[in-house]
This record gives sequence, structure tokens and C-alpha cells, in this order.
Amino acid sequence: MATKPEPAVIVIFGASGDLTRRKLGPALHSLACEGLLPAQTHIVGVARTSLSDATFREQIYAGVEAYSRLKPAQCSLWENSAERYTYLAGDYDDPETYRRLARYLAQLEEQANAPGNRLFYLSTPPFLYPIIVEQLRRVGLNHHARGWTRIIIEKPFGHDLASARELNAQLHAAFDEQQVYRIDHYLGKETVQNILTFRFANAIFEPLWNRNYVAHVQITVAETDLVGQRAGYYDQSGVLRDMFQNHLLQLLTLVAMEPPAAFDARALRDEKVKVLQAVRPSQLSDLVLGQYDGYLREKGVLPLSTTPTFAALRLFIDNWRWQGVPFYLRSGKGLPHKLTEITIEFKRVPHLLFPENVALMPNHLSLCIQPDEAIHLNFATKIPGAGMRVEPVDMKFHYGRHFGETALPEAYERLLLDALQGDASLFIRADEIELAWGLIDPLTEARRPTLYPVGSWGPPEAEALIAPEQSAWHTGCAVPKA
Ligand code: BG6
Repeated sequence: MATKPEPAVIVIFGASGDLTRRKLGPALHSLACEGLLPAQTHIVGVARTSLSDATFREQIYAGVEAYSRLKPAQCSLWENSAERYTYLAGDYDDPETYRRLARYLAQLEEQANAPGNRLFYLSTPPFLYPIIVEQLRRVGLNHHARGWTRIIIEKPFGHDLASARELNAQLHAAFDEQQVYRIDHYLGKETVQNILTFRFANAIFEPLWNRNYVAHVQITVAETDLVGQRAGYYDQSGVLRDMFQNHLLQLLTLVAMEPPAAFDARALRDEKVKVLQAVRPSQLSDLVLGQYDGYLREKGVLPLSTTPTFAALRLFIDNWRWQGVPFYLRSGKGLPHKLTEITIEFKRVPHLLFPENVALMPNHLSLCIQPDEAIHLNFATKIPGAGMRVEPVDMKFHYGRHFGETALPEAYERLLLDALQGDASLFIRADEIELAWGLIDPLTEARRPTLYPVGSWGPPEAEALIAPEQSAWHTGCAVPKA
């Protein structure tokens, strides 16, 4: 059972935007429902749009009704909760906005006799991050003598290594690294955190988790959605920056890392950093790029855009545990399923006793991250009857069936709670983000992607990339819930 954090004021910059409505409001509501938000916790929305407190509350409520894991009807506290939300309109580059904010926070804390803890959440377009950080520094909101001050930065954190370094420097001019919480919402997903439990709370898998037994590892993050309303942003970014630099590399670090010395932010992130340091720079021949057919007709996409909406990448980790084991990563939009799956494919048996089964697949273990959260272990079983014919079968564990369908908290619930509690384990450290950009930058040089039809698994070259493994991309987690 999670413990309740100390009361704090959460200031959301970009509060009139989509993230607040779809993710932050609903997450705060579910935390409150579970008794994890102390009564004196306030949420102050800041944005340019002029809104009354009442309209801001209505917007939050609409988001809670539509997207919250725990609906208002399941916990009737909205009437008392609404008061927590207030709104302050102002330009992000106007010092007066921050002076008003500083006065308002002091007044709120005095009225509530609250300890003076402040959590700033930057959910604006990224070009505003340095402006907001600098303005906070100028009015002294970067530190507070009476309580803690922390800042959460939404992704994208930079556009490449140079810009990520610059943003880190700008942040560090105002905040200590310990105050900074860089979001990757994949780390907030329960099933992603369970990679660590699965590996380090069970004795039976870890002895196999290395070059002696693992043939290769696959990480797929597939989406059916197209770029939609976000084409303007996406066309400047593409799948390597939008998905690989953050989510896929994060999944890779959790699968590949050594056991940390302790379960704390420093030890955990030290181990993740070591994985990124050991990743061998990829060759362009290890990379397949695709673009879905019709992308160029999306509103906001440049006429001859070469932005990839799909990529498949082979990489190696040069350390003792993983020497020679290929890791295959792929992600794309317009694919047949919404699916995040990590599959560990083990080596084949050294000698097959049952010759009628020459095509037998090796064992594999799939961590089904979403949407059908589960773990499957695939092994060979004798088909009942005469002879020794063998068939692969799956042993399955389903979170929903075991813990209940609404038991899995949304990623933002966990991340907000951790930031309020001062636990940065599930946030990205400065060195980590720079290393990740360093791996992706060389792959983003313009190269024409291959067209693929919407609803396919990307260009055929992606299948060819994995063919040397005598295997194919796994999609076992896409099987709908029985
Ligand atoms: C975001 C990307 O970080 O992750 C989006 O910017 C992508 O392009 C999204 O759609 C996927 O997140 P999830 O949680 O739906 O898998």
C-alpha cells in the first residue's frame, strides 16, 4: 500500500491543454480517490488562455469523467475536490505572471497552513521550457526555504543531443538535478515496472538471462493510430525521436540492466546508464525505416517529407552479459495492433530427440506490456496420442484476471505520486537522457523510408532484418483477452 505524500501545491504550466484534461486531472482524481492526496494539496493551472476557476474545474471534471480509471461515481469526493483546482492566466514570458504566481502560492500556503512544498509541472510546448525555468528562477520560485521544490518536465526533452544538453544546462542553472523529474510515461506503466520484479524477485529466470541461454531479444511498440492532429510536431520528429530515444531505449535498459545494488533512484539509474554506455553504435545497415502510405497527405506534413513513421533496429550491447546477443527493436504507426511486447527468445535445444519436429520453435518468454497486460512462457508439449509429435503451448499470467481489471493504476498516477514523494527512480536522469540521444542522433540523418500500407507490419525489410535469427517478429501478446 502506497503511503500518502506530504501536502503540496502542484502548479501545471500548460493547464488548458490536452495532457491536463486527459492524463493529469484523471490521475490526480484517482490518487485522491485512493486517499493518496492530502486535503491541503492544491492544483494551480497556469496557461495563456483566460479561464475562470469554475471553467477550469469543469474542464478537469470532463476529463475525469471521460478518462479516469476511477470514475467520479466510484468515489463521491469531487464536490470536496473541486475546490483544490484554481487557475491563473498569464503569458509565459511575462515576469508579472510569475510574480502573481509567487504571491498566490504564498497566500495559498498561509491559508491552508501548508508546509510550502511545490511541484511545477511543465506541460507546455517544449520551446517554452527554458523560458519558464528562467522566469521561475528570477522570482525565486526555484527554491523555497519552507519546503521542497521540484520540477517535472514532459517529453520531448530536446530534439537531439545538442538541444538536450542545452536544456539540461538551462535547467541546472535554476534547479539542482535532485529537483528535476524528466518524464517517460512508459516507466509509470505497472507492467514496465514489473520487468524489474519479474527479473529480480524470482530466482528461476535470472540464471537464464544472458548470452549463454538467450538467442535474441525483441521489443515491439506498435500503434494502430496514425499521426492525426499531431502531424506538425511529428513531422519534425519521426519515430526514432518520438519513440526510440525514450520509450524503446527505456524498455531496453530495464531488460538488459544488471541487478542494482539497492532499489533507489541512484542505484537504479546508474545501472540503466551502464547499459546505454555499452550499446554499440548501430550501423545504418542495422536500421529499417518506413513511412505509412498516405502520410504525405496528412495535414501539417511537409510535401516531400522523409520522416519515418516506422523503424526496426538491430543493436548489440558490448558487455559480459550480452556479448553477441542481438536486440531487435521496432515501433511504428498505422500497424495492425496496438501492442507493446518484449520477447526473450531462448537458444534451441542442443540436440532434437524427436526428428519429426524439426521446425520446432525455441522457447520464448513474452512480457506483454499493453494493452492485454500479461506474461506468456512458451514451451513445447507432446501432442496426446501416438508418436512423439510436439506442439508449442503458452503458460499465461494475466494481470486483469488475477488482480482485477481496474487494479492497474495509470502511468501518470504513479509518476505524480512518486514526484510528490521525492522518488526519482522512474524518471530519467540528465546523463541518461544525453546518452540516449547520443545513440539515436546518428540514425536520424535523412534517408528515404520505404512505404508500407496502413494495417501492415511495416516494410518487408523489417522481416528480413530479423531473418538471420531463423525467427520472426513475435506478436503473441496481440491475442485478445480470452
Ligand atoms: C508518446 C508519443 O510519447 O507515446 C506518441 O509521442 C505515442 O506518438 C505515445 O502515440 C504512445 O503511448 P502509449 O502509452 O499509448 O503507448
